[in-house]
Amino acid sequence: MNARGQVVMTQIQRSQWKNRLGFILAAAGSAVGLGNIWRFPYMVGENGGSIFIIVYLLCVLLLGLPIMIAEITLGKITQRNPVGAFKVLAGERSPWQMVGFSGVLAAFVILSYYSVVAGWCLDFIWKSLTGVFQPGHTMAEVTSIFQQLTANPRAQTFFHGLFMVMVVVIVLAGVQRGLQRWNEILMPALIFILLVLIAFSMRQSGANQGLQFILRPDPSKLTGHSLLAAMGQCFFSLSIGMGAMLTYGSYLRKQQRVPPATGWVVGMDTGIALLAGFVVFPVVFTFGQQPQQGPGLVFVTLPAAFLQMQGGTAIALAFFILLLFAALTSAISMLEVVTAYFTDEFNMTRRLAALMSGTVCFLMGTGCAYSGAYLDFLDTLASNYLLPLGALFISLFVGYKVNKELTRGEFRGTWYAGLFGVWHLCIRVIAPALVIVVFLNSIGILDKLLSK
Ligand code: PHE
Repeated sequence: MNARGQVVMTQIQRSQWKNRLGFILAAAGSAVGLGNIWRFPYMVGENGGSIFIIVYLLCVLLLGLPIMIAEITLGKITQRNPVGAFKVLAGERSPWQMVGFSGVLAAFVILSYYSVVAGWCLDFIWKSLTGVFQPGHTMAEVTSIFQQLTANPRAQTFFHGLFMVMVVVIVLAGVQRGLQRWNEILMPALIFILLVLIAFSMRQSGANQGLQFILRPDPSKLTGHSLLAAMGQCFFSLSIGMGAMLTYGSYLRKQQRVPPATGWVVGMDTGIALLAGFVVFPVVFTFGQQPQQGPGLVFVTLPAAFLQMQGGTAIALAFFILLLFAALTSAISMLEVVTAYFTDEFNMTRRLAALMSGTVCFLMGTGCAYSGAYLDFLDTLASNYLLPLGALFISLFVGYKVNKELTRGEFRGTWYAGLFGVWHLCIRVIAPALVIVVFLNSIGILDKLLSK
């Protein structure tokens, strides 16, 4: 390793969160993002409403929470990047490090299209500032504004590039920690705006229909694919399965315990996604929209709702700025994974690693500006396959390869010490079995096996 790389590396390894709040804010910053506000509502819309939400909540409880504890603990124990963590515990040549590789790959894939969607946010901020959005705009007008954007590769590429530059600059300037601090103000502000919007939504004529859609389950809507989608959404929204939480966990101090912090992060992430659902669907039905319209859903319904309210353009502006911020703190955690990997494993400088990765992601993402199907493909690949696979192996690794006494240390002497057994059973048996069943089910193998 060259001298510079060494310095950088020790800096990364040694830097630690000042206190528990610092870690919770960073982890929540990674978790709360476009996944909650953009992806969750359209997934609910495409996969049958209420029943999807129920399955999603089960996934969060049985997979998300235990696996996030496992992933963060892995980082805390090893103090390494995702590939290094497996090398430290399983040996230099162990095939387990493939799990780390798949995480780095997932980070590349997700960041490349995530930035395109965040670019839509930037475009909407621009439109709110320049008077393109006018009070009283109808749903049809807002829809056409959004369609013009998705039909305009140049504008999308521009804002995608702008977002990527912001992410790279923040990671390079090393100001993430400062930025995460802003979460203390901005996250509550985002929740506040969502609550104001819910108050608005509930007074709309479609409120009942919207509430029925998200509260009255229709089990016939449950398919193999929607189960897979719920699982993928759970891993995507909680940022697990690719080492982002592992990397953040590697900056934890010994005395900081993982389970309660994880509980906070999972609770916040899930709460914000549910709030977004309560905002979106009443509006969807009020304006006679289709819940299953896909990735454009919130970019059409939310502005349409804002513009019916007094001071709507200002609210739209505030909302998209908050959403942009939430997207930034998530994107930073993705770039952090690849940057930590290249600096640790290839002796690269932090600067080169971040610039190179940002450029590759930018190039990979530009295809999304030309084709929505390509965006969908990248999204499905990462969320439904790479993240669940990563999560599956993290869970098996922590369950079977990591010394039980090490993980027990996270629970020992606390009020939740008695839950260690439950957690361990979850990551050894329940979570891996569920992931495998959902996989087999989604490709129809389970049906064939059962009918034999
Ligand atoms: N959880 C983030 C969101 O909801 C996305 C993300 C996925 C971030 C994977 C990091 C790792 O927007």
